[in-house]
Amino acid sequence: MPNITIDGIGFDAPEGWTVLEGARFLGIDIPALCYHEGLSPGGGCRLCVVEIGEGENTKMVSSCTYTIEKGLVVHTATEKVINARRMILELLISQCPTSKTLQDLAAKWGLQQVRFTPKWEDCICCGLCVRMCEEQMMAKAIGFVNRGNELKIATPFDKTSEDCRKCGACMYICPVCTVRCEGAAPEGVLCGRCENSLQPTCLEFYDNFSCWMGLKGECGTCVGEKFEEKKED
Ligand code: FES
Repeated sequence: MPNITIDGIGFDAPEGWTVLEGARFLGIDIPALCYHEGLSPGGGCRLCVVEIGEGENTKMVSSCTYTIEKGLVVHTATEKVINARRMILELLISQCPTSKTLQDLAAKWGLQQVRFTPKWEDCICCGLCVRMCEEQMMAKAIGFVNRGNELKIATPFDKTSEDCRKCGACMYICPVCTVRCEGAAPEGVLCGRCENSLQPTCLEFYDNFSCWMGLKGECGTCVGEKFEEKKED
């Protein structure tokens, strides 16, 4: 007997695999915003919800955190699952209405109305950036602060953290990408100076988004005179 059956397909999954890994192995598409194969699962967005069990005896679980167990039966696209995902997406969009990723998902699933009051945040508090910072960058510069409606991700006491190396990994991994997708120079986020300079230097110097995390010109590699010349034109 296979140790898992997903949407009617049975197979023996390696020990320790999650339901999401099993589904992906079979090529089944499950939306998973806060999952990344290089990081521990967090279960923060809940979009990867699936239904496990049979008949009356089913329950909803997040597939990225649920480890496969012998005889497990999983359904990834029942009406209950689709409705739950749409409701979760509605909540996420109301939190972060400007996210292109969420808007694309809404378009894909035919979601045309959001019943919750928009909060216009930049973050869905899924915690992927926190795990990235801790597990891959070994920094622990950011973490969850407060609870409930006040929950947010920040540096300790909202102060510049000495542990932050401004590597930009948190922005890079953000699944709703509201910061890095904002365009050329959103105020206070992207440096923007290189883009106004005749010969950008910081992008060559850092080879990533490092300078985007700081204030305009903060990285100190800009060709100042050329920038000033261009500004005067
Ligand atoms: S991907 Fe599973 S909860 Fe976000």
